[in-house]
Amino acid sequence: MANGEGGFIGSDLSSYTAPRSADDLRSAIADPDKALDPRRRIVLVTTRKGQTLTGVTRNEDNFSLQIQTLDGTFHLFTKSELRRIDYQPRSLMPADYGTRLSRQEMDDLVSYLMSIVRTNMVRTNNNKPAGKE
Ligand code: HEM
Repeated sequence: MANGEGGFIGSDLSSYTAPRSADDLRSAIADPDKALDPRRRIVLVTTRKGQTLTGVTRNEDNFSLQIQTLDGTFHLFTKSELRRIDYQPRSLMPADYGTRLSRQEMDDLVSYLMSIVRTNMVRTNNNKPAGKE
């Protein structure tokens, strides 16, 4: 998702790059499994009735688990309904953009993402009351 357009399974990238360099952004796109936050791993659940679902965890406590699947649907389970919860050590984000995109395409993508962040920062600063940083 960037500037209100796109998907909702990953992070909103409209302000993602703010404190980061172009290299950090390139690496987050080309190598999503590097330094992956464990809360963002792929989760595979199997219910006692035999249904299997793949997605990302949105909420979890000792008794329940809520996941979001790629079609955007939220699924809430009590843990007693589940036979298995398997976390995979990788991101749902495709890991092949580093090879699928040419160097030029990757540069364009990174500049685009950096430019929307700059635009959003200007907009935010302009909305602040006069005299405040
Ligand atoms: C060219 C297209 C894409 C770009 C530029 C992009 C960029 C990014 C970036 C910069 C992050 C790191 C965000 C953070 O650390 O908070 C991220 C995370 C993520 N992206 Fe993408 N993404 C793209 C396509 C996709 C697609 C197609 C999917 C899903 C099938 C996806 C799913 C995710 C998920 C689940 C995360 C969070 C987990 C993680 O940090 O790896 N992305 N994406």
